[in-house]
Amino acid sequence: MSELSRKAILGLHSPLARVVEVYEALASTQERARELARAGTPHGTLVVAGIQTGGRGRLGRLWGSPAGGLWMSFVLRPGFGASLASRITQAAAVGIAKGLWEIGVEARIKWPNDLLAGGNKICGILAESGVGQGGRLDYAILGIGMNANLEPSDLGVMDREVTTIRHELGRDVDLLLLLRVVLSNLAAALARIEDFETVLDEWRNLNCTLGQRVRVRRLGETIEGRAVDLTPEGGLLLATPGGTVELFEGEIEQLGST
Ligand code: BTN
Repeated sequence: MSELSRKAILGLHSPLARVVEVYEALASTQERARELARAGTPHGTLVVAGIQTGGRGRLGRLWGSPAGGLWMSFVLRPGFGASLASRITQAAAVGIAKGLWEIGVEARIKWPNDLLAGGNKICGILAESGVGQGGRLDYAILGIGMNANLEPSDLGVMDREVTTIRHELGRDVDLLLLLRVVLSNLAAALARIEDFETVLDEWRNLNCTLGQRVRVRRLGETIEGRAVDLTPEGGLLLATPGGTVELFEGEIEQLGST
């Protein structure tokens, strides 16, 4: 197994990892990346931690981050307007899914951007943006939590089904190799954000949501419908008895295929 050191990561020569910080343990790579972004670190800054003691997930959840995972956050300064920032998560999901397939994990994307293997979550994505003056996108922080060389039970997740690369492949993966394939696929997907239809076509090929009956809770009501397609900005179109509903964000429960 290769060492996931700063020097080894810089040696990958990725445009997403030109400035690299590696910690054995850190509260949250997301918070450290934000500090660096506010201090002016350039596009392509990567923070990696072996353990996070205060990892954060979407919707204010805790993100269990014991040893063996790949916990990391990127600082991106993509140079497009803030109106395109929401595209980052779905582009990232495509890039990471393709990286996982390269190492043998048959990953599927659950809308909007969870990565599942065998129906269980194997990777989470958290994209947050810092908007500057005039509505310009100053920076985006892209946090990725990959359940790699650990047991699902190590993650301490009670209410959701989770899996790990070790569990799916029956062996551990070299984290530097994993990072290399993720970086190359992620960079390619992010580079196509302004040509988003091609990203969404790949998303459609890799997803496990379209065609499913889904349930979503929003604004105090529960909606059920069939996920039929994506909008041009990556929203989810649900066919419900009351008509077509568009979801922009949130968490869906998949109820099975129709
Ligand atoms: C989700 O809820 O699905 C998103 C999880 C994102 C977790 C990653 S791990 C690296 C980075 N640091 C954090 O504190 N969170 C993100």
